[in-house]
Amino acid sequence: MAYRIITAEEAASYIHHGDNIGFGGFTAAGTPKAVTIALAKRAEEEHAAGRPFKVGVFTGASTNDYIDGYLSRANAIKGRTPYQSHKDARDRINKNEMDYFDVHLSHLSQSLRYGFLGKINIGIIEAAAISDDGEILLGAGVGMAPTVCDLADKIIIERNHHETDKMRGMHDIYTPADPPYRREIPIYKPSDRIGSPVIKVDPKKIIGIVETDLRDGVKPFSPVDETTAQIGHNVCNFLASQLKKGFIPKEFLPLQSGVGNIANAVLSQLGDSKEIPSFEMYTEVVQDAAMELMFQGKCRFASSCALYVSDEVLTRIFDNIEEFRNRIILRPGEITNNPEVVRRLGLITMNTALEADIFGNINSTHVCGTKMMNGIGGSGDFTRNAYLSIFACPSIAKGGKISAIVPMVSHVDHSEHSVMILATEQGVADLRSKSPIQRAEAIIENCAHPMYRQLLWDYLKLSKGGHTPHNLRAAFGFHNEFLRSGDMALTNWAEYC
Ligand code: COA
Repeated sequence: MAYRIITAEEAASYIHHGDNIGFGGFTAAGTPKAVTIALAKRAEEEHAAGRPFKVGVFTGASTNDYIDGYLSRANAIKGRTPYQSHKDARDRINKNEMDYFDVHLSHLSQSLRYGFLGKINIGIIEAAAISDDGEILLGAGVGMAPTVCDLADKIIIERNHHETDKMRGMHDIYTPADPPYRREIPIYKPSDRIGSPVIKVDPKKIIGIVETDLRDGVKPFSPVDETTAQIGHNVCNFLASQLKKGFIPKEFLPLQSGVGNIANAVLSQLGDSKEIPSFEMYTEVVQDAAMELMFQGKCRFASSCALYVSDEVLTRIFDNIEEFRNRIILRPGEITNNPEVVRRLGLITMNTALEADIFGNINSTHVCGTKMMNGIGGSGDFTRNAYLSIFACPSIAKGGKISAIVPMVSHVDHSEHSVMILATEQGVADLRSKSPIQRAEAIIENCAHPMYRQLLWDYLKLSKGGHTPHNLRAAFGFHNEFLRSGDMALTNWAEYC
């Protein structure tokens, strides 16, 4: 064995205040778990001794409690990007105790290579195996591990005994050349392999190996309820109608599905629909619902950045590994989310909104325009380049005190120019080829909850003039009323005009 086996504590001792750390993995899948616990402890000891200790954190996407949880609670993160979804990180971010900048997932690796974001001092990579000559076999998540391995001064490997050698052959590691030498990424169908099954690094960069057997511990999603089932049903009916009209080719097109409860529920409904033929996925995460479709045969093939699945589902994949090695490819995030490939393959993209406005702008990230929820993740990579871009969400949140359909979004992540379809449990608004006023009519009529529908019609009447009519005094009336009374259902627009 060419490498030293070291403890997590020793590994953490090589990390210094002010260092930038790049992590492998994507979501909780294949994300390191052991060194950061020791690092958090070290930060707490340094803080107790009156010394500063904070690091910069670059990840593939959201992580797990071992990274965002432990390091946030220890107040050990100076800055962080990209997507996160941990309550403790969210809390630090919204108190401005952590500098968080939110970027499109497909941009991060190349921005690091371009030097825009500073250097990576230490890379921490979870691996299923590593050879003496520096070939790293990853586990259930890739993220930006190849770029981290390339750029980091030094690398710590966490060898996880639950990530098995069985995954050999499932990964496709490819890093595009940087401009002006970049060529096309030669993926013409989701199952095309273009890279290597392993990452190759200079063994001299490896500080040592930390042995671990911590599990990814993916939490199950909320069960599909009446509302999310109806959203899924509406999306399925819409896709079936597009198929019948010939707007989607009869072979169907590859699907991308976002993260969270709603995305999971929509996928479950697709599995039940007799009108939707079997399909392939080109997506950034495969969740339990997508794997269920693979077990059923409804989804024939999945290209993804991670298997973000429960331990039970991962075991089922490992038990049938010969089959799934031919039906799943795990790629780096800059390839799964690459705009060039998304546009070429003609993806049908399905992502989730926190709120949408009557003209079709989407807020996926900021509650009432100020508080960060998670981040934009890959939703922009996919939406902007989709064949058909769909956003779905329940029409109300928090028991009806929040309308997801508002006069003007309080933060814009996806503009009216990129959003084609909006679906709630109330129905579907097809925004293609509609003027702003026609879009507003379709969204209010088809997507808004009856509790808010008349208020939105009244707002449209109050809004005078221009191509996109607004009443700028009243545009945030719902939000202001929510901040004032805890309920968006204002009784009188006049107060806000
Ligand atoms: N204002 C305030 N809170 C809202 C809200 C609104 N307009 N709409 C929803 N919420 C709350 C819900 O009440 C729920 O709160 P809870 O956790 O306290 O119950 C929470 O937001 C999550 O909503 P839920 O309906 O369960 O949806 P989800 O799990 O599907 O998550 C997003 C929705 C938007 C937060 C999530 O999809 C996300 O982070 N998206 C951005 C990134 C992305 O799209 N990535 C995919 C690219 S591949």
